[in-house]
Amino acid sequence: MIILVALVLIGVAVGVGVAVGTKKHGGSSTSLAAESATAGLSNNPSLSFTGTPTSSIQSSSSTSSPTSTSLSVLSAVYGASDVTDTAKSILPQKENIFIPTEPTLPFPDSWFGYRKCLALLLRYGSVDNQDLRTFIACEGTGNYTLVPGNVSLSPNTEATTNLGPSTSTFHIISVIWGPTEIRDSNIYQKLFDCASKSQAVSFSNEFFGQDTWNGTAKSAAVFYTTDNFSTVKNIFGREGQNASFSLL
Ligand SMILES: *[C@@H]1O[C@H](CO)[C@@H](O)[C@H](O)[C@H]1NC(C)=O
Ligand SMILES: *[C@@H]1O[C@H](CO)[C@@H](O)[C@H](O)[C@H]1NC(C)=O
Ligand SMILES: *[C@@H]1O[C@H](CO)[C@@H](O)[C@H](O)[C@H]1NC(C)=O
Ligand SMILES: *[C@@H]1O[C@H](CO)[C@@H](O)[C@H](O)[C@H]1NC(C)=O
Ligand SMILES: *[C@@H]1O[C@H](CO)[C@@H](O)[C@H](O)[C@H]1NC(C)=O
Repeated sequence: MIILVALVLIGVAVGVGVAVGTKKHGGSSTSLAAESATAGLSNNPSLSFTGTPTSSIQSSSSTSSPTSTSLSVLSAVYGASDVTDTAKSILPQKENIFIPTEPTLPFPDSWFGYRKCLALLLRYGSVDNQDLRTFIACEGTGNYTLVPGNVSLSPNTEATTNLGPSTSTFHIISVIWGPTEIRDSNIYQKLFDCASKSQAVSFSNEFFGQDTWNGTAKSAAVFYTTDNFSTVKNIFGREGQNASFSLL
């Protein structure tokens, strides 16, 4: 009888332990956010990439009907591959988005042996063209928790700009070179010119005007829309590769 009671108690204890552990994993974002904020890339201004081909993949911007307080992934590039579908399926939408980079990021390694970075285009809320954000994190830089709410609450996250020229059928949303978002209207202009002349973009330090990750092979990601933000497309590639915008 005593043994039975003891077994039941152990069972309950284990159950509680599991429940607490699970909850903590998904929910203890405050300390992680604080930690990742300091583990960010602000001290490491140089990260980079090289590019290959270049598929341009179109990702729908609405999977799980976002609400005005949803934080949603619209498009994702890891290294030089599109991981939008994986990101949407494994990262919680609407709630905090937890992104570990240690020991690895939760995406397939399509560029073995290179230190890769993740670029996310996010939207807070449900209005197509409002409150878009870029998040960038590279392997081994800590864990990050992105929270629905003011952009300043999420580490490594910046509101997108409207730096470049645009038309009703072509708008560059965000430009990432290695570990850094490029916020230079000259580069937006160059990208716009490539699109309007149907020229390939050449992913290089020369094109982006700087080496954002000294001596390291980088990748690029450019997020854009051709339908007034209803859907988001991207081009990407490794340093040295080229890619062309898809204007259809
Ligand atoms: C980051 O998250 C991963 C996966 O959840 C975990 O294994 C690792 O211990 C975390 N690292 C830090 C520094 O919090
Ligand atoms: C977001 O936070 C910043 C800095 O804390 C503040 O200046 C800004 O007004 C806030 N934005 C909104 C929409 O609340
Ligand atoms: C784009 O959509 C916004 C609403 O989201 C609308 O106000 C604007 O007129 C649209 N622009 C074009 C060029 O259709
Ligand atoms: C990439 O684009 C640049 C500039 O447009 C061009 O000079 C170069 O030949 C292209 N390289 C490849 C591999 O297509
Ligand atoms: C970049 O790397 C080169 C050669 O490795 C080095 O000489 C230079 O000082 C580095 N620059 C920076 C800003 O770290």
